[in-house]
Amino acid sequence: MATIMLAIKMGSSSTTIYKQNEGFLLKEPSLVAISGSPRGKEVVAVGLEAKRLQSKVNEDGVISVVAPVYEGVLTNTELATAMLKTFIDKVCPKKLFKPNLRAIVCVPLGITISEKLAFEQTCYHAGISDVLLIPSIVCSAIGNGIEIGSNTASMVVGIGAGCTDIAVVGDNALIGGVNVGMGGSNIDKGIEQQLLAKFNFIISDNTAEKIKKEIGSLYINDSSEITVSGQDSITREAKQLTITASDIYPAIEHYYSKIAESIASVLSSCAPDVASDVARCGITFVGGDSKIMGLEKYFKTKLNISIKTSDDADDLDIMGAAELLEDSDLLKKVLLNI
Ligand SMILES: Nc1ncnc2c1ncn2[C@@H]1O[C@H](COP(=O)(O)OP(=O)(O)OP(=O)(O)O)[C@@H](O)[C@H]1O
Ligand SMILES: [Mg+2]
Repeated sequence: MATIMLAIKMGSSSTTIYKQNEGFLLKEPSLVAISGSPRGKEVVAVGLEAKRLQSKVNEDGVISVVAPVYEGVLTNTELATAMLKTFIDKVCPKKLFKPNLRAIVCVPLGITISEKLAFEQTCYHAGISDVLLIPSIVCSAIGNGIEIGSNTASMVVGIGAGCTDIAVVGDNALIGGVNVGMGGSNIDKGIEQQLLAKFNFIISDNTAEKIKKEIGSLYINDSSEITVSGQDSITREAKQLTITASDIYPAIEHYYSKIAESIASVLSSCAPDVASDVARCGITFVGGDSKIMGLEKYFKTKLNISIKTSDDADDLDIMGAAELLEDSDLLKKVLLNI
């Protein structure tokens, strides 16, 4: 029986699949559209198609769009299975003989046994017979070129849509770390609340995310602006509003200041030689929300440590997981130390 090896990231925001010998084949929103017809609930679309249906939600109340991954973990394994199965069918078109599927799957740091089990069961039910769960932050470190097994310790901070991982990697792949829960979706909610309080302006989650990605900034006086559509909370009329980066700065800064506090607390609990390695080599930020404007200067000022970022920040986890698929010695080394 042919064996197909996959690397999979099922993130709160998107799912990405790498297939050995073929490359990165899929990146789609981690979303499932379900119809609530009287005959029962039925999955009508997943991924990009489900995202497209989001704008139609509530018009007739028949379709709802659900995110089965929340804060990095699977909150609805039935829908997560349906989503993963569809994605796998896209990258592994049906053949006469069913292939044997094996996969490396990226997961958040420090998840519970039952959360791990949810990932494993979802993968099994989606047709994968052999599953290896590896912390996303370790995969991201590898994807970013950080040497696993090096004598020098490195700090890697991953800010995803649903959670933030702070980890130290070094001679033992993972020396330690924490998952501080919140992620970019909390920033989006913060932007929504800020605009409601300041302008009586209601926007959707998607609009909040768009604002964050286009003008969100950790520079206090950034004057970048964007015009978006929403609704007046008093008159309920649809309206357009031009907002500036400084209008949403408090919502954004609030969140990153909490991450800075958590990093400082992890650093203060590190062994002296680890802390001095980090102070010398700096902190590497990964995950989509590390792409916010001004992040490097903000954390350098707050922590007095040099900061590295990457344009591929949101794909480093799957890139590292793919590297592990291709390098069995590296995989063995990582598996011994996570
Ligand atoms: N330029 C940008 N500025 C700020 N945030 C961004 C930018 N580009 C993407 N993001 C955010 O990155 C997040 C997606 O990143 P990523 O793919 O790392 O998350 P994820 O792995 O799906 O989530 P998690 O690991 O938390 O489950 C979203 O919150 C998105 O809004
Ligand atoms: Mg992630």
